[in-house]
Amino acid sequence: MSSGHQTGYRVQGGSPLQGTVFVQGAKNAALKMIAASLLASKGRTVLRNVPVIEDVRRAVELAQAVGASVKFHEVERTLVVDASELTSPVLPAEISRRFRASVLFVPALLHRLGEAVLEGGVGGCNLGSRLLDFHYRGFARLGATVDEGEHEIRVKADGLRGAHLYLDTPSHTGTENLIMAASLAPGLTVIDNTAQEPEVQDVIAFLSKMGARISGGGTGFITVEGVRELSAVEHTIMPDRVDAAVFAMAAAITGGEISLVGASLDHLGVVRWKLEQMGVEFATQGAVLQVRRDKQLRPINVVTSPFPGFATDLQSPIMAVSCLADGTSYIRETIFDGRYMLAGELNKMGAKVEVADTVALVHGPTPLHGTEVTAHDLRTGIALVLAGLAADGETIVSPGYQVDRGHASVAARLTALGANITEEEVG
Ligand code: EPU
Repeated sequence: MSSGHQTGYRVQGGSPLQGTVFVQGAKNAALKMIAASLLASKGRTVLRNVPVIEDVRRAVELAQAVGASVKFHEVERTLVVDASELTSPVLPAEISRRFRASVLFVPALLHRLGEAVLEGGVGGCNLGSRLLDFHYRGFARLGATVDEGEHEIRVKADGLRGAHLYLDTPSHTGTENLIMAASLAPGLTVIDNTAQEPEVQDVIAFLSKMGARISGGGTGFITVEGVRELSAVEHTIMPDRVDAAVFAMAAAITGGEISLVGASLDHLGVVRWKLEQMGVEFATQGAVLQVRRDKQLRPINVVTSPFPGFATDLQSPIMAVSCLADGTSYIRETIFDGRYMLAGELNKMGAKVEVADTVALVHGPTPLHGTEVTAHDLRTGIALVLAGLAADGETIVSPGYQVDRGHASVAARLTALGANITEEEVG
């Protein structure tokens, strides 16, 4: 794994960004589709518009570790997966321990090999206590046995069958994982309280092309009729709405004007309304989305919630933008209990962010000053890059790996917009 790289982003702030940026394919759809492609026992799957990010590389390594032949043609942003021979049910500890999406490989391993072993359990990305109980309880309801040992999790099944499942909260990955497990389980599966994120719908579109029979996507109630087999197909992954919104916020925080290619206003949803309230202007020019900000930013209220609510993944970036707003912004995080690591880092840069339990108050406007800051997780990392773009002097955001987990070619794309940013060894 390349997580040992001691790289960081060196950002020299101050210039308003101008120009065109290409939005990457959606991370949170791509990871599921890589896992889902292992459900096809013959033929080769072709995935297009795959983001060239570290999390995708980890998913490719996991697929290879269980025996799939996977080629990531990075220049073409295309993955070709041949899963006709899976050889091992073991998801190795050095990846699964730190990569929560590892659990998405369980359905394919169960169907193909009758067993999945998560060596070393499953890690996450420092967002507080992130449980996977809905996944395991769902697999059990479908007929699997789950042994959660101290050092590994072992899931076994002679054959899954349809069942009635209920999610206590509309878990994004939980919904996708249980749909995958149910797709090849004979009989009817009903899943209540499902996630409605656009990525879930894209994963359903991909599985449906493979031959799965799924209805209710985009509602809170999904039914899956098990089929005998799924085939290898070609699919183009939807644009990454978090990546698109982060670049919109780069225009907002620097007072610039950016054309986004590959962004959909429909996917931005409430994020668009919130940024407009802050003084950001959006205009569609055919298929290109224009974003600019030239007025003083106004403060904002944000409460994160499952789609169509404000995405938790954008809570950190909008916190960075609020530092420049004229007044106090109110942020409440309702999805994860540990997603305010950014506050302390922004305060090192001169911000005034107060955190009490699930609420953060951002007292603006405060000028930001460059310094060394820590990317505790992916979205904290990209939010600090945004802060660095608006700060005076030099900001160093490390480890760069956290940013690279989820956003492709950040330095190159921002440089093309006129930013002064490099990713380099930081010792
Ligand atoms: N939860 C449980 N039990 C479960 C599953 C979830 O209690 O079995 C709880 C979690 O602890 C959390 C909440 O439910 O408090 C929501 O978790 P969810 O399962 O919806 O999150 P996820 O599927 O693990 C995905 C994205 C996250 C994104 C969330 C919310 C992927 C690979 N990850 O995680 O993305 O924040 O949905 O939209 O799809 C990111 O991209 O930076 C990122 C963290």
